[in-house]
Amino acid sequence: MYHNKETKKSRAQINIKNNQNKFKCPICSGAMTLKNECNLICKKNHSFDLSRKGYLNLLASGSSAKYEKELFEARKQVCSFGFFDPLIKHLGERISGYSNDNSAKNGISVLDAGCGEGSHLRSLAELLQHVPDINSTLFGVDIAKEGIKLATSGDTDIIWSVADLARLPFQRDSFDVILNILSPANYHEFERILSDDGILIKVIPGKSYLRELRNLMFEENDYSSDRVADYFSNKFQQISSQNIEYQVQLDEVILPQLLKMTPLTWSLKPEMQTEIHLTQIPSITVDLTILTGVKR
Ligand SMILES: C[S@@+](CC[C@H](N)C(=O)[O-])C[C@H]1O[C@@H](n2cnc3c(N)ncnc32)[C@H](O)[C@@H]1O
Repeated sequence: MYHNKETKKSRAQINIKNNQNKFKCPICSGAMTLKNECNLICKKNHSFDLSRKGYLNLLASGSSAKYEKELFEARKQVCSFGFFDPLIKHLGERISGYSNDNSAKNGISVLDAGCGEGSHLRSLAELLQHVPDINSTLFGVDIAKEGIKLATSGDTDIIWSVADLARLPFQRDSFDVILNILSPANYHEFERILSDDGILIKVIPGKSYLRELRNLMFEENDYSSDRVADYFSNKFQQISSQNIEYQVQLDEVILPQLLKMTPLTWSLKPEMQTEIHLTQIPSITVDLTILTGVKR
């Protein structure tokens, strides 16, 4: 366990130092080295600080993040309620299976691209710890600093960075598994940083995702993520598509957090959010499609 922020930062220093060959300068694309214990620097002297909380800010220019601290806090509470547990179990099995099939490798590198406040990756780190013979190094990136700040709250060796999917600060072929969960994608960048035998796992909402809330908010509920799935299979060779669907019982604590965390309710005024009651949505459907692809 960490005892203070310094020890958290020193643990991050060790993890980054051990993996510095994976990073590339987000400005000039040069190789990077961790110097003076807390600066990741390229040969052209572009320098990026390791924060006291132990994350790197690798944005080449200002952030255009739309998500705010309150939203990430709500998302974290919803995750700690177990909302995504079946998904995490599924992803854990998928990553363990990949690792077994590629047992010749000296450990695998996993990137969660668009990791938000990091709950999924922290849960996966914990789950993978209990799987024998898996040696994984986990990285999480998100464009929102508020998300990454929250992500560092756990006691893990995950390497967290603020970065843009459109300009990922990693070298070619650096990752064996890329996770892209309910987040935008940049397939050009994913293809560049994924190893030749690596896999991309993209999680998208199925048509019944949060159905009860959609039914309440919209007269016509014809939600579909078919276009996102089609785009995925245009860019990567799809090797599987699996669906998981389950119900989560809500309560007075979790419903307001759920309403805060989902972009679905962003168009609603706050007073309208408080109009949505547990009696209207006692439980909610989680319907997720897990697409797995390899490079063409
Ligand atoms: C709906 S949230 C999902 C977060 C997390 N994967 C989860 O399931 O809880 C979408 C995330 O994508 C991130 N995001 C959006 N555009 C991005 C970009 N260009 N680069 C990196 N992250 C981005 C947002 O900041 C946000 O955290």
